[in-house]
Amino acid sequence: MKKSLTYKILQKHLLSGELKEGCEIGIKIDQTLTQDSTGTMVYLQLEAMGISKLKTDLSVAYIDHNTLQTGFENADDHEFIKSVAEKYGIVYSKPGNGICHQLHLENFAKPGNTLLGSDSHTPTCGGIGMLSIGTGGLDVAIAMASGEYYLKTPKVLNIHLEGHLKPWVSAKDVILYILKQLSVKGGVGKVIEYTGTGIKSLSVTDRGTIANMGAELGATSSIFPSDEITYEYLKSQGRENDWLPLHADNNATYDEVINIDLCKILPMAAKPHSPDNVDSIRNLTGIKVDQVLIGSCTNSSYKDLMKAASILKDKQVHPDVSLGISPGSSNILKMLADNGALGDLIAAGARILECSCGPCIGMGQSPQTNGVSLRTFNRNFCGRSGTNSADVYLVSPETAAISAVSGFINTPENVGEAVDIQEPQAYFKGNSYFILPSNKSSIIKMGPNIKPFPINTPIKSLVEGKLILKAGNNITTDDIMPSNAKLLPYRSNIPYLSQFCFNTIDADFWNRCVENEGGFVIGGENYGQGSSREHAALVPLHLGIKAIISKSFARIHKANLINSGILPLEFENEQDYDLLHEGDDLIIDNLIQSLKENTSVLLRDTTAGVDIKLKFTGSERDVAILLMGGYLNYTKASLEGLN
Ligand code: F3S
Repeated sequence: MKKSLTYKILQKHLLSGELKEGCEIGIKIDQTLTQDSTGTMVYLQLEAMGISKLKTDLSVAYIDHNTLQTGFENADDHEFIKSVAEKYGIVYSKPGNGICHQLHLENFAKPGNTLLGSDSHTPTCGGIGMLSIGTGGLDVAIAMASGEYYLKTPKVLNIHLEGHLKPWVSAKDVILYILKQLSVKGGVGKVIEYTGTGIKSLSVTDRGTIANMGAELGATSSIFPSDEITYEYLKSQGRENDWLPLHADNNATYDEVINIDLCKILPMAAKPHSPDNVDSIRNLTGIKVDQVLIGSCTNSSYKDLMKAASILKDKQVHPDVSLGISPGSSNILKMLADNGALGDLIAAGARILECSCGPCIGMGQSPQTNGVSLRTFNRNFCGRSGTNSADVYLVSPETAAISAVSGFINTPENVGEAVDIQEPQAYFKGNSYFILPSNKSSIIKMGPNIKPFPINTPIKSLVEGKLILKAGNNITTDDIMPSNAKLLPYRSNIPYLSQFCFNTIDADFWNRCVENEGGFVIGGENYGQGSSREHAALVPLHLGIKAIISKSFARIHKANLINSGILPLEFENEQDYDLLHEGDDLIIDNLIQSLKENTSVLLRDTTAGVDIKLKFTGSERDVAILLMGGYLNYTKASLEGLN
């Protein structure tokens, strides 16, 4: 069988299982990355595993999300991560250095390698031909400790690009065009592999933009071949030795193929409030704009910012518009300062922000009430900007820059002759913001905001407790554990966060958990939908929740519950949901035998005097993880077994 590039890399890294769609495989992970918002938990988990040495070739801890320091909490988190990095030999990227994905592409990404990151836009490094996957923090901690990651063999969707982009049309417009065709669900369970002569007109950072927003398609990853353009990029970064040519076999087998002619793509925008709500800019021109933001892990490369600077040169930002620019890396900012582009941006009236995620994660620059914000970012969900009433449009840097001058949504096609910005021959390679580990200290610094990670115990055959909460259908991870700018600094403080668990639907949940030392939660259909937030499992674990019983579960949340050692059980007969009431006393007996033999789990409601049949649907490996009280204990035991 002629192989796709995806299958070639998976095959080379295969540790267990069969490369057959849907089958679980274990693969070797070469590199990991974390950002600070998820990183504190990752490193608490790593510490809890008690390992002495990492199994990855390279691990990097970036500080780019919670860089605002209005209290001690974020500073504590950064110091904790820095001390863990020193102890385990992890590269530490200081706040101000830039955004994790842009920095990783510039400094560490390698064609043909595997990368696992605790951030959903980790696939950005697919732009260089690296198989890069975003996942939950525990998976990253385990990959660092064991070098392994388990996933279902993905389908491979080939997007074949032909032709050339028209002037003023950029990589952002390409991925918005694809989102319009495929929707935010179009990539689920798939790796998107780009081929065709059209990719020759895309630089590595253009490819990174497209791979980055594969996350908005729901894809496991996105990947481009490693060609002469990749070589030139690596050479400009002083890393030509990391290059290797990589592509799919001629006539490789794909699960699906989509052909796109780049010439047909026009400047596009994703309208409020979804990245797939895409329209042509020509249909949106004239909408008044209050704010324009250029940056984020999607569009903060040297080329992106130079394009914006060339449009803004000798012009002025419209008096009614606030233009903010956050460069992707400190080295890019230095290059803009050296070549005069930074001066052009400042002269035009741009606000130069820190090299960090900043407004993308709601750290500053929330738009005004009912404001219209044009952003070169990747997400425009309602409220993500920090202003619920704001309308956020996602656009290219070119569209953002010309609209900042016009004061309304404008198409860059109106600027005149397109400027051809090329990748630089040689990037500035300062590394003052990277701290390379010297392995001199193994002292972990845990300020008062860092609380230990909750660790479960192996499950027992008899599980009993009160029904603490009976929830309805479609409970989201936001319902379970809200995340907002006020709670973000407490990501490493599970006891504090636990006071807010379920508090939007039941203000007394925390009190009842404390009073009863935990118990059971019942849900309806699709329990745990929404983001992959691990805290929606870790916080209930801290509160002593032993099992969630529902009509059905959202896939990632169910995996997070198993990872935490909380039993996700489903009703065999959905109507039995009606028999249970909050405050009832519940008992499950003979649990271990039922799980091992894959038979019904019997739940007795001693208050109502009814017996209800439940089922556990998961793999043998899932059962083994639950028996150990979670993935962390399971991995720790396997690693100890190896030693
Ligand atoms: Fe940061 Fe936003 Fe990307 S939070 S990692 S710039 S999606």
